[in-house]
Amino acid sequence: MNRSEVAVMITDSVLDRAVRLPKRSYRLDSFSPNPAGHLTKTQNFAGRDIVSIRDFSKEEIDHILDMAEVMEPLARDGSDMLHGKIMATLFYEPSTRTRLSFESAMTRLGGAALGFAETKGTSVEKGENLADTVRVVENYADVLVVRHPLEGAARMAAEFSKTPVINAGSGAEEHPTQALLDLYTMRKELGKIDGLNIGLVGDLRYGRTVHSLAYALSLYKVNLFLIAPETLKMRKEVLEEVSKKIGVKETASFSQYLRELDVIYMTRIQKERFADLAEYEKVKGSYRLTAAELGKAKKSSIVMHPLPRLDEVDADVDATAHAKYFQQVGHGVVLRMALLALVLGTL
Ligand code: NCD
Repeated sequence: MNRSEVAVMITDSVLDRAVRLPKRSYRLDSFSPNPAGHLTKTQNFAGRDIVSIRDFSKEEIDHILDMAEVMEPLARDGSDMLHGKIMATLFYEPSTRTRLSFESAMTRLGGAALGFAETKGTSVEKGENLADTVRVVENYADVLVVRHPLEGAARMAAEFSKTPVINAGSGAEEHPTQALLDLYTMRKELGKIDGLNIGLVGDLRYGRTVHSLAYALSLYKVNLFLIAPETLKMRKEVLEEVSKKIGVKETASFSQYLRELDVIYMTRIQKERFADLAEYEKVKGSYRLTAAELGKAKKSSIVMHPLPRLDEVDADVDATAHAKYFQQVGHGVVLRMALLALVLGTL
């Protein structure tokens, strides 16, 4: 039985129960996604940490995307799949989408969410270190979602925690769940990932989403176009690993490859990560995508952005058929529902 057959089996199983039981009150406590032992070892996520996208094989990533598809009806109708489970969010950096979509995902699956959105008012202000905070909060929750300004913080949290840790952004390093929802968005909006020409545009040095995304895309048959000002070029270690596996072209010119791209993935220049603000001033506003500029792009091309945007995507793009960044936000919910259900052993 292959992966998509497993997905169909699970979808059928979830939906069967959904129609048999009254809306919003069905439980999947006796639900086993693996009744005949069909799931392979790589599809078993129970208790696993999600720290780096590099910890996952293509088969595992595809399985997560399949499970996000399974979550679509549950996102609409609600579910008790994670009833009795608690997620804690430990956010040491600002966030709107990531934290709220995790909370929404948990709530839509019938679970509960607690945590902090800033360190103000917590014991971090008194000097408590991450390792201690993690060993405290794991007593209150079944899964920890951690965002921290330091690279390596999520890995460290995972090492100290007995409950699974999901990395919601570790400094400029990685943002694996964003990469997963980005892949899911490409699959949903363009029907496939293989064969695409994908341009990552903007801050490829400090932008953590593009690091995780580039690693993830290197597992597929895609061409990558890295479009960044000289000082914000893709991190060396990412470029080295990715360019061993797929075709990569680097340029500072936004227009050079524009007409070849299927996905135009715009990013914000990460002001907060510059050691020297004078350097930020030199590159801010480097690229600005407008509806007029998109006239030169493929008709079918899509514009993505992890958000928040500043001026890199003009508001006049919003009304074009290319704009998919708000759909991308929606895809983040089902993707995170799937991740939580997988890590908590319910899928
Ligand atoms: C991104 C982040 O925090 O890395 N936002 C997000 O999670 N969607 C991108 C950014 O802040 O520019």
